[in-house]
Amino acid sequence: HSIADLGDLRGKRVLVRSDLNVPLENDSTGSPAITDDGRIRASVPTIKSLSDAGARVIVAAHLGRPKGVPEAKYSLAPVATRLGELLGRDVTFATDTVGEGARSAVDGAGEGDVVLLENLRFNAGETAKSAEERAEFAGQLASLADVFVSDGFGVVHREQASVFDVARLLPSAVGGLVETEVDVLRRLTTDPERPYAVVLGGAKVSDKLAVIDNLIQTADRLLIGGGMVFTFLKAQGHEVGKSLLEQDQVDTVKGYLEQAQERGVEIVLPVDVVAATEFSADAEHDVVAVDAIPSERMGLDIGPESSTLFAEKLADCRTVFWNGPMGAFEMEPYAAGTAAIAKALVDITADGALTVVGGGDSAAAVRQLGFTDDQFGHISTGGGASLEYLEGKQLPGLTVLDES
Ligand code: 3PG
Repeated sequence: HSIADLGDLRGKRVLVRSDLNVPLENDSTGSPAITDDGRIRASVPTIKSLSDAGARVIVAAHLGRPKGVPEAKYSLAPVATRLGELLGRDVTFATDTVGEGARSAVDGAGEGDVVLLENLRFNAGETAKSAEERAEFAGQLASLADVFVSDGFGVVHREQASVFDVARLLPSAVGGLVETEVDVLRRLTTDPERPYAVVLGGAKVSDKLAVIDNLIQTADRLLIGGGMVFTFLKAQGHEVGKSLLEQDQVDTVKGYLEQAQERGVEIVLPVDVVAATEFSADAEHDVVAVDAIPSERMGLDIGPESSTLFAEKLADCRTVFWNGPMGAFEMEPYAAGTAAIAKALVDITADGALTVVGGGDSAAAVRQLGFTDDQFGHISTGGGASLEYLEGKQLPGLTVLDES
């Protein structure tokens, strides 16, 4: 069901699950500041349209991974302020999620008003393994509202109270952000225009095993960088010095390399890396070939020859999905590889290719490097969620809506 199927929403209490999990850093005064508000911006259209329709909008979201009890540093208060600025109207921030604070904020809300509840994960029931505990918390959330709108694409892979259980308790609909995200990912998984390449980076291979397994069946090219690439280089017989390495995954990766070869899927690995003495912007660093990484150095970015090679491999692609930075982009000396991928994607987007950037880190990276969202086909708000979608997994937050 879409929001339109919920009928006239004027005066109705609408609970919206959004993904407002944004990166925060303390500013010079020591107060938390949002470093990338992409997810809040992406959530605004649904919230605004409900408010414009006269609904009493109750937004529920999480921030970070608090362990079921309130912790000041994970308060959504700064997010409420930013959401208000982007909506251009006041947002009432409730001091708790389902207690007195929430109830009085919801009772006080008139038509078109927007309330943001405090961090869902301040309540153990939100992420509880036990279905009963989750259902109990979901019941408390549901009692605040008349209908439910699921719009947090970044959390649809989580079987959590506010994503999954609550949809069984209230008339439910899928929000516009989730609809858009799923439409784009469906284009990647059903008959993508070819060549179809996937660029994977980020720290850990173990997070990406399932998706690599699936992509070997569907993609034409797999380009690999980031911390995870050193496990691939090791599997090819290279020494990687002090670089990130998941020794226990080397055999699995060898298996993938063989499978890819049998299937005619091209796996593109870097030919050079930027190797530094330590994980720091001022560390001594040089470009070295992948077969000459000194034992006391760690690779922190793909090198310039690799950037050129990767850009060439992307130039003729008609479909590209990218998840994970190529290096430690937040430090200037190790940002060039990630910037090169972004630039290659921007170029082919201008030529009509479908390019999708998935995941909080990659989205933050392209913005930090000075690119804008409209230079890409789509910037997904989901990291884990978009990867699990590509893995072909059933996502609980989506299947529950199909049931309802
Ligand atoms: C994300 O950041 O990918 C989503 O907000 C989900 O957060 P989680 O991984 O802590 O469940």
